[in-house]
Amino acid sequence: MQPIMTTSTEKREHLYKILVIGELGAGKTSFIKRYVHQFFSANYRATIGVDFALKVLHWDPNTIVRLQLWDIAGQERFGNMTRVYYKEAVGAFIVFDVTRSGTFDAVSKWKEDLDAKVQLPGGGPIPCILLANKCDQEKQGIVTNIEKMDEYVKVNGFSGWFETSAKENVNIEESARALVNQILLNDKLITVADIMDNEKFALESTSGQQITTMKKNCSC
Ligand code: GTP
Ligand code: MG
Repeated sequence: MQPIMTTSTEKREHLYKILVIGELGAGKTSFIKRYVHQFFSANYRATIGVDFALKVLHWDPNTIVRLQLWDIAGQERFGNMTRVYYKEAVGAFIVFDVTRSGTFDAVSKWKEDLDAKVQLPGGGPIPCILLANKCDQEKQGIVTNIEKMDEYVKVNGFSGWFETSAKENVNIEESARALVNQILLNDKLITVADIMDNEKFALESTSGQQITTMKKNCSC
């Protein structure tokens, strides 16, 4: 029997911790259930503490992305566990309910809390996408004005925003893809920065002459 020919392409696997935060009843659990299990329930059962879900994406033929989704209870805003939950996250969704403008008013507090408690290894904020959920229902407040929303996400350092409906399956995949894109981009930047750091370290630990030569060649 002929041996099976295989090509040795390098397979990459990434595991990313993603936070899903926002006010009580905004639809965080519903968003995750729709995304991971293609399921929606109209019954509301408040999350207690934190729940987890795993979504595996075959991103491209050589890349598998595992998303560890942390579904954090809206009531945690009033607790002090968020620092523990946010640790080592590389991306986040902040969810609000388009039918209750109070849930939007709290978005900036969630974002501040997030940025204060978790950063990328390089020190910058982790990418965060704003989800205007329940768009299958009548909207209330700023979310009725697209330009204002665009301005709001820009000013407040979001990577983007989407109107979503966990019920009708609107923009669930799209918003997740946008976040993963941003995370992969950051990952590449970090890798380049790491390589540069390592090279710098290697130079500093060799002779001073080599460092001088490098400085001469450097345009700065
Ligand atoms: P906490 O766990 O308390 O923080 O709430 P949560 O943000 O996880 O909200 P959850 O997903 O439990 O949804 C709250 C209620 O809103 C439930 O009754 C859901 O069925 C409903 N809901 C969630 N998403 C949508 C949506 O896109 N459209 C509509 N019409 N209802 C939704
Ligand atoms: Mg929940």
